[in-house]
Amino acid sequence: MKIISLLLHLTVSAYVQQAFAWPGMRSTTSDIRRLSIRQTAEPPKQLIGDLLTLTDSQLTPIGKDIKAILLTTKSGESSTIDTTIPANLGSSACNADTCCVWKWISYDMVAKFNGTSGRCTKYARGAVRLGFHDAAAWSNTSAYGGADGSILLTDEINRSDNNGLADIASAMKDWYNKYHQYGVSMADIIQMGATIAAVVCPLGPRIRSFVGRVDNPKAAPTGLLPDVNDSADKLIKLFQAKTIDAHGITALVGAHTTSQQHFVNTSRDGDPQDSTPGVWDVQFYGETLSSPPPRVMKFASDMKLSKDSRISDEWNQFVGGQAHWNADYAQEYIRLSLLGVNNINKLQECTKVLPPAVTSFSAPDQVVLNLWLQGQYNQLSSYVDDAVLLTGFSTTTGP
Ligand code: HEM
Ligand SMILES: *[C@@H]1O[C@H](CO)[C@@H](O)[C@H](O)[C@H]1NC(C)=O
Ligand SMILES: *[C@@H]1O[C@H](CO)[C@@H](O)[C@H](O)[C@H]1NC(C)=O
Ligand SMILES: *[C@@H]1O[C@H](CO)[C@@H](O)[C@H](O)[C@H]1NC(C)=O
Ligand SMILES: *[C@@H]1O[C@H](CO)[C@@H](O)[C@H](O)[C@H]1NC(C)=O
Ligand SMILES: *[C@@H]1O[C@H](CO)[C@@H](O)[C@H](O)[C@H]1NC(C)=O
Repeated sequence: MKIISLLLHLTVSAYVQQAFAWPGMRSTTSDIRRLSIRQTAEPPKQLIGDLLTLTDSQLTPIGKDIKAILLTTKSGESSTIDTTIPANLGSSACNADTCCVWKWISYDMVAKFNGTSGRCTKYARGAVRLGFHDAAAWSNTSAYGGADGSILLTDEINRSDNNGLADIASAMKDWYNKYHQYGVSMADIIQMGATIAAVVCPLGPRIRSFVGRVDNPKAAPTGLLPDVNDSADKLIKLFQAKTIDAHGITALVGAHTTSQQHFVNTSRDGDPQDSTPGVWDVQFYGETLSSPPPRVMKFASDMKLSKDSRISDEWNQFVGGQAHWNADYAQEYIRLSLLGVNNINKLQECTKVLPPAVTSFSAPDQVVLNLWLQGQYNQLSSYVDDAVLLTGFSTTTGP
């Protein structure tokens, strides 16, 4: 380990000198510094599932790629896209291509996740959270659980942990009923839903997406999901037992950038966790540390995490660090989406069915949103939840 980090340091300084005259130098050097910090300050990333026992010579090209993503030597993002219209659902051409049915599923999901304002809808956010709650009901001592579809194949969804997921649960079950006959598992529908949702949200990462997970009609073990009142230490330990380290939690909780809570405080129904719900930006990281507009409701867990010494450095790097955050979120979400999956080496990739990433965004209705963020117009909360464009709404107060 010592030798590796020393070598990395040498390569880094050589690279930095070489890059000295480039206009892009700032981001290049900070990216490299980040890599070297990661190499020296953190224990190595853990492998999971069948990758724990397979030797490199036994790995398929996909198995190799996933291993490299888990070890953070390869990016978890991809812009590979297939813009052709897929063959008809159920046709022999479609049946012969693993990703064909997923292209149709992607069309259905995008229609539900994309709002007329260009923000992503409550269904998109629900899909990200649902993907988390199916997969994270697993720990390194569980004999079952994880990304196995059980959250919707059993009564798991009724557990209080899953309050707020009813609408997305019902949409996912409809998709399952429509597409299961073409060979797709509930586990994959849920995890593809989470990655399609992330990229539909403006500024969201385009996460490499794999299919072939096996369903388990058995409810996951209980007590494995985080609680909003947990201490930072409890949360860090909970995630550690899922092989997700402190940096991993830091990247993953950023998903609250899109969120609007309904059950943490029911008298603040629809209040967002940063000032730009439905947008996958880094406002959440800065606003959790500061005093955002009054309608923004920070979660106790997020505030505690942001201040913990194992987390705060990375948290601060994400403030203003969109590309860094997207890159880390993609790698960590791929890990999360494979917890409890024991056939990683046999998965297939269907990233190409995802819609393109939206790399810049400016809300056309920001003036109205700002009034709402100040605490006015409670009735708009449900429109924001649906990501509709807030037009036909007068913002002038006098003649
Ligand atoms: C530190 C651990 C975490 C805690 C304690 C936590 C807790 C919560 C709570 C209480 C809500 C609000 C539910 C409601 O009242 O409607 C929520 C929403 C959400 N969470 Fe988390 N969460 C955590 C980590 C994560 C992670 C790792 C992800 C995804 C990778 C995630 C994704 C989301 C999303 C997208 C929403 C918004 C759902 C919506 O707008 O309907 N959370 N979370
Ligand atoms: C989402 O909706 C916006 C606004 O209506 C539109 O510009 C964009 O193309 C849509 N995105 C996708 C992937 O369909
Ligand atoms: C779970 O909730 C659904 C919908 O509210 C209800 O129909 C069902 O009976 C519940 N199942 C259990 C075991 O409580
Ligand atoms: C968290 O703590 C608050 C304040 O003490 C309490 O009102 C709330 O019910 C708790 N929430 C949960 C999910 O335990
Ligand atoms: C599970 O994870 C915890 C926390 O990282 C670790 O202490 C423990 O040794 C792991 N157990 C197994 C069986 O891998
Ligand atoms: C919930 O919100 C209400 C209204 O803002 C506030 O008075 C109350 O203290 C909050 N409850 C908790 C547990 O934070």
